[in-house]
Amino acid sequence: MRNLNEDTITQAVLGRFADMPDGRLKDIMTSLVQHLHAFAREVRLTEEEWFQGIQFLTDTGHITDNKRQEFILLSDTLGLSMLTVALNNRKPAGCTEATVFGPFHVDGAPQYALGEDISNGARGVPCLVRGTVRGAGGEGVPHARLDVWQSDEEGLYDVQHAGIKHAQARGILQADAEGRYHFRSILAVPYAIPHDGPVGRMLEATRRHPWRPAHLHFMIEAEGYETLITHVFRRDDPYLDSDAVFGVRQSLIADWNPQPDGTYLVDYDFVLNPRKT
Ligand code: BEZ
Ligand code: FE
Repeated sequence: MRNLNEDTITQAVLGRFADMPDGRLKDIMTSLVQHLHAFAREVRLTEEEWFQGIQFLTDTGHITDNKRQEFILLSDTLGLSMLTVALNNRKPAGCTEATVFGPFHVDGAPQYALGEDISNGARGVPCLVRGTVRGAGGEGVPHARLDVWQSDEEGLYDVQHAGIKHAQARGILQADAEGRYHFRSILAVPYAIPHDGPVGRMLEATRRHPWRPAHLHFMIEAEGYETLITHVFRRDDPYLDSDAVFGVRQSLIADWNPQPDGTYLVDYDFVLNPRKT
């Protein structure tokens, strides 16, 4: 196989996959090569542009470590993460929609009893969050496990603060026998995703801002139901229609109600999709 040219090289590369034993991997590699080559042809990629792309991916790798996942941020800001969530979380109408996981979840967050304050010293305006975890028929889901995490009033998660060694504004709760939950935390505020690296340069070059609308993260698990990874967003947020990572769903927007004592109250019920057996 010699003298390949711009018309014959794609087939030549695909031919090299002929002996792949893993059919799924073969499908993925075949499609990837077809789309990559079609992209290069469509934009008539120059050698200089190809090298800029390589440089961008190299920088993305260099800034990535166990605290900073720039590749996921790239996927998020290009809409690939939300597309993958949408493709893999089709649910019947009425079930709470899923959205991006994000890079700030930490396994093994502290456990709290219902009603406790998960802020654990994180700064922000006090806020009570409450609701019920239900099944598709409206029944309460007994003892659902809620893993919650959020940023502080500066828009930073505990793991983004140098020097904070204990969990703040994150915790695990268990709903009661009727699926009801309530906990105290702090007011969610909009924040900018990390944009001091290659993804930030991409956002600037494409004239995009790095902001996410205020939200709480939830991962909810219960026996017999699909795990739900989602957010609850604040209705009054200016970034709801321009979330940097495309995660907003109308059904996930709730009111943060100001209370006479200066605190806030959010009511939100989740509806889980029964697991297929
Ligand atoms: C987050 O909501 O925590 C998040 C999601 C995607 C990218 C950056 C942050
Ligand atoms: Fe977040």
